[in-house]
Amino acid sequence: MKKIKVNKSLELAGTIRVDGSKNAILPILAATLLSEEECIIHDIPKLKDVEIMCQLLKVLGADIEEIESNTLKITVKNITTCEAPYELISKMRASFLVMGPLLARCGNSKIYMPGGCAIGTRPIDLHLKGFKALGTDIKSENGYVNAKTDKLIGNYIYLDFPSVGATENLIMAAVLAEGETIIENAAEEPEIVDLANFINSMGGNIIGAGTKTIRIKGVKKLHKTEHTVIPDRIEAGTYMVVAAATGGDLLIENIVSSHLQPIIAKLNETGAHIEEYEDKIRVVSNGIIKPVDIKTLPYPGFPTDMQAQFMALLSIADGTSIIHETIFENRFMHANELMRMGVNVKIEGSSAVLTGKSELTGAKVKATDLRAGAALIIAGLIAEGETEITDVYHIERGYADIIGKLQNVGAKIRLEE
Ligand code: EPZ
Repeated sequence: MKKIKVNKSLELAGTIRVDGSKNAILPILAATLLSEEECIIHDIPKLKDVEIMCQLLKVLGADIEEIESNTLKITVKNITTCEAPYELISKMRASFLVMGPLLARCGNSKIYMPGGCAIGTRPIDLHLKGFKALGTDIKSENGYVNAKTDKLIGNYIYLDFPSVGATENLIMAAVLAEGETIIENAAEEPEIVDLANFINSMGGNIIGAGTKTIRIKGVKKLHKTEHTVIPDRIEAGTYMVVAAATGGDLLIENIVSSHLQPIIAKLNETGAHIEEYEDKIRVVSNGIIKPVDIKTLPYPGFPTDMQAQFMALLSIADGTSIIHETIFENRFMHANELMRMGVNVKIEGSSAVLTGKSELTGAKVKATDLRAGAALIIAGLIAEGETEITDVYHIERGYADIIGKLQNVGAKIRLEE
């Protein structure tokens, strides 16, 4: 079984280049199903989740060619099946994002119900409610969601919660629908904007992505395009926390600083020194961390995908920090693992109370999701002794070459097969 071994590594210094965004490329890959013509996409991160989505696209009829490293040419001349198999859906929840494009392109889809995962049940009720509003009949049987429509008709959809996936799925369904669709209380994440920009570059007509109200005017067809994926703001944030926690000095390249504002604000509060440049950011820290309170919120609030990493950082703050998780109902699985390393944290409902300064010691721990895995690496970098992390496949899903990137700035970290 693969393990990541980490030893104490303070004052990490050097440069790390961030890859394209996992949470932008996954819906964009699904959106290639909307066009019969070629889509050339650059800055695609080498991640397990990208591999799974490409496998699914091939099953559905896509022709995929790697024309250079991190660049794919994807052409879906014909959709050969509208059924997404259990094996792939069960591996990755985001596979469900092919439902919108399949309904738009061929008027039906048969997709296995995506499972929950460690961080929560992760229902799809908001997706289905939106598809019904666009004129889709939906029946669930034998674990599959069967959806059928003679024609998607634009409509007004109010999302009870600004779900990222539901917003993305419904945008993709509405793009080829007849008439106009308005999505109210939409998610505003930068990944939604990147998806809309991608689809508009193919001839789509989407206005307001990045705001709570998105208008989509249906068009007849979409044409070919070339697109570069936005940088991964969560990967960038993770390395910013590594710099703060280890008392280091890291220059993180390929970032969009407006996407990082909530992370920059909170790191400043902990006492880190941050220098923002056009497409890079420098984080310098003396390793003395001030306690701060965190509340996760939909963008532009503090991202839930950075919560675990901040729990590791705040474990060594001088004082009490409170983390309130409002997005997922069970996203504190990493707390149990961090406690094995000596982190003094108490979970009370949807809040975690950290009483620093904890003395961290290396231990055998398990990654419970990809951000939890990143938090354990951060804790391992500041703990006395060696930390051994198992279930590393979680980490490989969302962090391209995290071990190489950290080794390059001085971290004592290695992968053991
Ligand atoms: C996306 O997941 C991201 N994944 C997640 O990143 C991220 O944590 C999440 O958005 C929130 O920002 C991708 O983009 C591939 P949601 P998604 O729908 O779309 C509830 C990572 O670490 N909900 O915004 O699944 C849901 O249960 C991953 O990179 C419903 O109730 O998130 C959750 O509590 C983890 N009904 C909340 O909304 C629905 O129909 C947010 O979910 C849909 C969602």
